[in-house]
Amino acid sequence: MFDRSMSVFRSIRRTVAQRFFLAVALADFFARRAFLREIVAVYSGMHKHHDARRSGREVFYVRRHVHMLEKGISMIPRRDTFAAGYIEDLVAAVEACTAADLLDTVTCGWVADTLDAYFTATEASSSPEIRRARERYKQLDVGPRSRDFLGPVPVRDPAQVTGEGLPSYDALLSLAHARQSVRWFTPETVDRTLVDRAIALGMQAPSACNRLPYRFVVVDDRDTIRRIADIPGGTAGYAQNLVGLVVVVGDLSAYAHSRDRHLIYVDSSLASMGFLMAMQAQGLSTCCINWPDSAAADSRIAQILGLERYERTVMLIAYGRALPDAMVPGSGKRDLDSIRQFVGSTEGDPR
Ligand SMILES: Cc1cc2nc3c(=O)[nH]c(=O)nc-3n(C[C@H](O)[C@H](O)[C@H](O)COP(=O)(O)O)c2cc1C
Repeated sequence: MFDRSMSVFRSIRRTVAQRFFLAVALADFFARRAFLREIVAVYSGMHKHHDARRSGREVFYVRRHVHMLEKGISMIPRRDTFAAGYIEDLVAAVEACTAADLLDTVTCGWVADTLDAYFTATEASSSPEIRRARERYKQLDVGPRSRDFLGPVPVRDPAQVTGEGLPSYDALLSLAHARQSVRWFTPETVDRTLVDRAIALGMQAPSACNRLPYRFVVVDDRDTIRRIADIPGGTAGYAQNLVGLVVVVGDLSAYAHSRDRHLIYVDSSLASMGFLMAMQAQGLSTCCINWPDSAAADSRIAQILGLERYERTVMLIAYGRALPDAMVPGSGKRDLDSIRQFVGSTEGDPR
């Protein structure tokens, strides 16, 4: 009898839980229209992208296709003819972006060095498209280049092959252990040069097709910090003591297709990790702060920072010098075995 009533109770609880989930999902969809806002952001990004493509002035298109050229140049074996289908379009886009002064100096150097290498690599090609693109490129001055060669190079031996001369695993592990989310800071504002150094390291992170579809908005005046830090719920109790805040913003106009919409989150998070590590290496502490997917939060931050519709806040990062006497959560991680799964045969393999 007891067993039977327990089983009825469990079944009622399951039905209520399922219905509740359905009700919450529907409420979420209709009341907050979270997904709808995301769709609007994705499509306004694509609209901007295609619009800029029509006028030829689309920097992300240039970055993606120059990246594709680099892969073609590095191909084993390399073909005499490659990229013939888009090289004319690319040179035209570089020309338009240069005329509109849209390429930053590092991008200029990378674009020009790669195009130089491409036209050298395809000298033996009989493709009329490549020939026409080469002639057009010869007339083009891509603009100021940085001193280092930024196009494709042979693997840099020995560092890339053997790790020689690089920080040891143990040194990196100590840095990773030293980084902890700190929420209490001394009142001094942090020197902006240190923040720049950390961003410069963060942006070395891999990024899909080398687009770097994000920006780091650094806020270091107490009043604006307070206005922003109060928006997400995760800062309750400590927002008032923050002295520096980075708003990581993803740019959905980097993409021609909605299928790529998640890349802003992946790429900017990889860059953010580098930023956190570099801050730590300079004796500065950080704490990531969740950005909720909420219409009210988005509209408040868009108003404060003047964000475009196709720009999405990915997260906030508080930074500063750790208050010496404050406590920090230990934040035990997980056992390696619980998050790692090797797939593959180890038969006859000494591993
Ligand atoms: C995406 C993300 C969102 C986070 N959001 C918050 C937040 O809203 N408030 C907060 O105090 N900490 C936040 N944190 C910090 C986490 O609580 C912290 O990283 C975690 O507990 C592990 O601790 P550790 O960073 O010291 O290793 C966030 C971290 C990440 C990566």
